[in-house]
Amino acid sequence: MENRAQWGTRVGFLLAAMGSAIGLGNIWRFPATAYESGGGAFIVPYLFALLTAGIPLLIMEYTIGHKYRGSAPKSYATMNKKMEWIGWWQVLVAFVISTYYAVIIAWALMYAFYSFGQSWGSDPTAFFVGDFLNLVDAGQIGGLVPKVLIPLVIVWAIVLGTLSRGVKKGIEVANKIFIPTLVVLFLIIVIRAVTLPGAMAGLNSFFEPDWSRIADPNVWIAAYGQIFFSLSIAFAIMVTYASYLPRKSDITNNAFITGFANSSFEILAGIGVFSAVGFMAFQYDTTVAGLAAEKGVGGLGLAFMVFPEIISQIPGIPGLFGFLFFASLVLAGFSSMISISETYVAAVSEKFNISRQRSVIYGGGIAAIISLLYATRGGLNILDTVDHFINSYGVALAGLFEVVAVAWFARELKNLQTHANKTSDVMLGSWWRVCLGVITPIVLGFQMVQNFTSELA
Ligand code: PFF
Ligand code: NA
Repeated sequence: MENRAQWGTRVGFLLAAMGSAIGLGNIWRFPATAYESGGGAFIVPYLFALLTAGIPLLIMEYTIGHKYRGSAPKSYATMNKKMEWIGWWQVLVAFVISTYYAVIIAWALMYAFYSFGQSWGSDPTAFFVGDFLNLVDAGQIGGLVPKVLIPLVIVWAIVLGTLSRGVKKGIEVANKIFIPTLVVLFLIIVIRAVTLPGAMAGLNSFFEPDWSRIADPNVWIAAYGQIFFSLSIAFAIMVTYASYLPRKSDITNNAFITGFANSSFEILAGIGVFSAVGFMAFQYDTTVAGLAAEKGVGGLGLAFMVFPEIISQIPGIPGLFGFLFFASLVLAGFSSMISISETYVAAVSEKFNISRQRSVIYGGGIAAIISLLYATRGGLNILDTVDHFINSYGVALAGLFEVVAVAWFARELKNLQTHANKTSDVMLGSWWRVCLGVITPIVLGFQMVQNFTSELA
């Protein structure tokens, strides 16, 4: 009777969900956010956000997908006809993100190969924006950059090829290969990093708690923001992935496993990144704080400007550390990219009643064409702007619409709780409804206001 595609195994679903969660956000977003938000003291708002919003929302999205068995727009529409647009809003946000996420993976792919010869020379920053991206000034435009275009085509071919093979043979198989490989590569990197001279100083400045920061509301907003992005919540992804769960699946348990696996990877990344930064400070005979202030320890800058410098200085087999680092970015990126793209592939195929393959061609094809915009000589400037708006408004709004609609408009939390409890031996209590109906909307609303006022300031 049920002919909806399904995961082959429970582990398959878990690896796919972890694959979506574990991404660039863990590797270059978390370490910098934690460092700037109180170091070791960040653990308090972070765990609070994980337990009051991250995992509760993950449970909610898994339950919605599992109960209504549809992509995000269809699942929300089944809950309440007036809510279909929330799913489409999330699908749209995911679509936009996928257009530039692909480009970043393409860069990392090139850099994995550049690592062997340290092609970035003695000035990686100049190399990145000059030789590699051929960047023009903001406001100007320029033609396609072949060095970016070629890996970009490869990235789309792999992502769309995987998606067209379906849930079990495509997404599940890819994650079963990518995620275990990623964990092994990343462990090697972290072990190498912590044994470098200066690593301990790096770790000390990362973990050193600045308790005074806990009084700053912005630190709490940063914690919630990190958790949302990192767990791929409010992007239509987890609803879509959970819609392929077999009827007998322990939803609540799976959500806790996904949440803790993602956070573990995040902390591991913090250890790796700050050991490496400590090593760089040691090489330059400066402090970690000084280096962080000068170069920054997050985002594109960390990956494509700071890390190349570190890689060039690491003793041992030339380029191996660099290759492993960029290969990790590629693997982490691919598994997230597959999940973002699956949201619109699934939504379009269901809405217009077309096959998955067709939907991959239309949805994925259009996304791929749009992504060429970022492979032009002005691409980085466009990417920065789009990313800023998506992160400040697209995501927070998507989350806010979602919880308010489910909790207060459809008043569905009780039913979802009953549904989740039927499947699990971890029982959800009223705390779960308080987290979703009260705490999360307040935090997201506050975050929106804060983003908006900082824009005007
Ligand atoms: N959760 C991913 C990370 O932490 O890097 C990022 C991400 C993936 C965000 C997929 C959004 C998304 F749709
Ligand atoms: Na993550």
